[in-house]
Amino acid sequence: MLNNRTAEYTAFIEKYLQENCVNYSKIPQKTLIDAMRYSLLAGGKRLRPILVLDFCRMCGGDWQSAAPFAAALEMIHTYSLIHDDLPCMDNDDLRRGRPTNHKVYGEAMAVLAGDALLTEAFTMVASAPFDAETIIRAVTVLAECAGALGMVGGQVLDIQSETRECTEQEVLNIQERKTGALIKAACVLGVLAGGGTEEQIVWAGKFARHLGLAFQIRDDILDVIGTEEEMGKAVGTDAGKNTFVALHGLDICKGMVKSQTAAAMDCLFFFENNEYMLSLAQSLTDRTN
Ligand code: IPE
Ligand code: IPE
Ligand code: MG
Ligand code: MG
Ligand code: MG
Repeated sequence: MLNNRTAEYTAFIEKYLQENCVNYSKIPQKTLIDAMRYSLLAGGKRLRPILVLDFCRMCGGDWQSAAPFAAALEMIHTYSLIHDDLPCMDNDDLRRGRPTNHKVYGEAMAVLAGDALLTEAFTMVASAPFDAETIIRAVTVLAECAGALGMVGGQVLDIQSETRECTEQEVLNIQERKTGALIKAACVLGVLAGGGTEEQIVWAGKFARHLGLAFQIRDDILDVIGTEEEMGKAVGTDAGKNTFVALHGLDICKGMVKSQTAAAMDCLFFFENNEYMLSLAQSLTDRTN
């Protein structure tokens, strides 16, 4: 079931992004559109859209109706990657198996492609087929999770911590924000799209907190043991950075991925038809890309 449903969600979101996101062909700013589509349609695991769609389904909603929320999450995630790779940030040359956006389109266009993906994501959310209250809540959650106290804030803390040693609590705080926040937005928007309960919103947030942590610790592990071919991005680039791997070493971190995933799975008790999400969470513990 895991692979079948993942394939169904992935094919659905790929088609939706291809056909509905930033798709104007005859405007003077075409280079910007090309740059946006270059990174957005370069593949990737599409984890955040999958979380949106499946939380919607688990809450009893029509998962296809959550497509605009799912696409918005992937647009914001893609913008975060384009900016994360810039020379002034992580200075990376490879992403999703392709040269990074700024390597192809130049730094100015890469910054602007990121800006535009972020902005257009909110047009997407606003266009979703839900009542006004649901859309306002979704916009608020997404903006909070992506913004100064969420993903962007996490990136700031990450950069500021590069020149000093961090405590465990500080690393936790960085990772929860830079990666966990968008994963939380994905799960909560899925519940909103599916008409879930207030209690389910709370448990989706708790699930996301643990899954996000496991996901980022695995990312840091893969920076050490992964390959560039499988990851589609450079490895070995976190040396000297404040990661859990730097704090505790690989073995303890592998245990942390398992325990955080188990804690995430416990939160799914509050959702019916959760077998797919349970196996998805489990499968991420030993992912190689
Ligand atoms: C990479 O995210 C950046 C992190 C937050 C660890 P993903 O591993 O989800 O990247 P894609 O979307 O599959 O390329
Ligand atoms: C980035 O974390 C998280 C983002 C908000 C993009 P990393 O810098 O570890 O992500 P990768 O390893 O470049 O994908
Ligand atoms: Mg980074
Ligand atoms: Mg990076
Ligand atoms: Mg990384």
